[in-house]
Amino acid sequence: MKLPISDRLLACAAFVASGDRVADIGCDHGYLSIHLLTNGIARSCIAADINQQPLLSAVRNAEKYGVHSKMEFHLSDGVRSIPRDFTCMVCAGMGADTMISILEAAPWLQSSQYRFVLQCQSKTPMLRRYLSDHGWRITEESVLRDGKFLYTVMEVYYEPEYPRLTEAECYFPPALLENPSKDIPAYYKWVVEGVRIAAAHNPEKQPVLAALEALAETEELHWLEK
Ligand SMILES: C[S@@+](CC[C@H](N)C(=O)[O-])C[C@H]1O[C@@H](n2cnc3c(N)ncnc32)[C@H](O)[C@@H]1O
Repeated sequence: MKLPISDRLLACAAFVASGDRVADIGCDHGYLSIHLLTNGIARSCIAADINQQPLLSAVRNAEKYGVHSKMEFHLSDGVRSIPRDFTCMVCAGMGADTMISILEAAPWLQSSQYRFVLQCQSKTPMLRRYLSDHGWRITEESVLRDGKFLYTVMEVYYEPEYPRLTEAECYFPPALLENPSKDIPAYYKWVVEGVRIAAAHNPEKQPVLAALEALAETEELHWLEK
């Protein structure tokens, strides 16, 4: 029985390391954890959701796919009501506001013992700004197209000595280039177009636009326009 998991969640799974104990926050149907366990990637998974109905569907799906014994299920707002003994926290399919409120509520996450995999649905530059300002470093980020939409998935570590991202880097972070993909040019163009529209109404965005446009001329990115 094939698991109906999206390419977006598979891209998140690609950042999970073998043997990780995963906390899937906002698990909904539980497909990510089920995929990680049926493929022998994660050692165990904590599936958490703020709402009862999604959590119940994760329980049912875990039983259906035979991984129930390797999963724990917690009704939890963010990480408030889950055990802290995980190694990798995945938050996927949420906007930056929700992710930031989850991180704000748990200062204990500011620790090098945790790795995050974040797939942000909206206001991603704001999430990158927050992470960078609070001591987290985006070590890798990948772009993918799933259906009509472009998504990014980031791997994040607590590394407070690392330099902060510039404003332009919050829109197009250097970490994206660690994972060259065919969808990067489309993502770059989409980002620049969004900033161009914002800059037309807000002069404060002009320097960000100029920095992003200059990026296309650099050695690392000159292939974008080809
Ligand atoms: C759009 S779904 C994404 C599900 C899955 N992670 C994915 O990417 O396909 C968002 C899920 O996050 C849950 N959620 C929203 N805010 C949350 C919070 N503060 N803590 C835990 N779960 C939350 C919702 O109930 C919902 O099930």
